[in-house]
Amino acid sequence: MDGNGRWGTKRGLPRSHGHNKGVIVLKNIIKLAKKLGIKVLTVYAFSTENWSRPVEEVNFLLTLFDKVLQKEIAEINKESIRLKFIGDLSPFPENLKQLICESEEMTINNKELTLNVCMNYGGRQELVKAAKELSKKSLTGEITPEDIDEKLFEAELYTKEFSDPELLIRTSGEKRISNFLLWQLAYSEIYITEVLWPEFNETEFIKAIIDYQSRNRRFGGIESISKESLNSSLYH
Ligand code: IPE
Ligand code: MG
Repeated sequence: MDGNGRWGTKRGLPRSHGHNKGVIVLKNIIKLAKKLGIKVLTVYAFSTENWSRPVEEVNFLLTLFDKVLQKEIAEINKESIRLKFIGDLSPFPENLKQLICESEEMTINNKELTLNVCMNYGGRQELVKAAKELSKKSLTGEITPEDIDEKLFEAELYTKEFSDPELLIRTSGEKRISNFLLWQLAYSEIYITEVLWPEFNETEFIKAIIDYQSRNRRFGGIESISKESLNSSLYH
């Protein structure tokens, strides 16, 4: 969800206005994703690198997460949306951690859509964590180094219960992965739009999906997969 700050600055407003508007956009996109039958939506809310921003902006974002979660959790639950937070949550303030924990517990059985929110998430950090876990298991004899394969590795990732993303939408024209889901994005289709996140909307989301549907996903092979299976994988 990139481009919040620039959107504010472009309007001669503080960056925080962009973050506030970004929340409204996210709510609209979640609603549409559910309506379209998308089962998993993963958003990058706060990266391991975002701590290096001015302390005022970091504090603003932490307060915003807290406020939005408190305000929206009942509605999210009513809509049968499951909330899951991905990343190392340990450095967040106790009250936010508590709220995160309660929201996850409250929505754990919701089936319509899972919303993964990446918070203090970094792809490299996730891979290092997985390597550490496997190395511990190997030391205790639970596994041998030869046992390690993609399946065992994946089982140590935050996303172990989900299939890999089919589509990555990157807003604000940036053409990089920025440490997002490094393992999981191996074969994802990438859609880049110049639109800043606060200006992203339902039409832009549909545009990205239609673009995705025209792609020929070969997964390193030469056969194109059928349109039918493309559609069913979009709505997996
Ligand atoms: C993304 O927008 C929101 C968060 C990181 C929370 P940015 O804040 O990165 O906005 P730009 O990239 O500076 O415009
Ligand atoms: Mg940015």
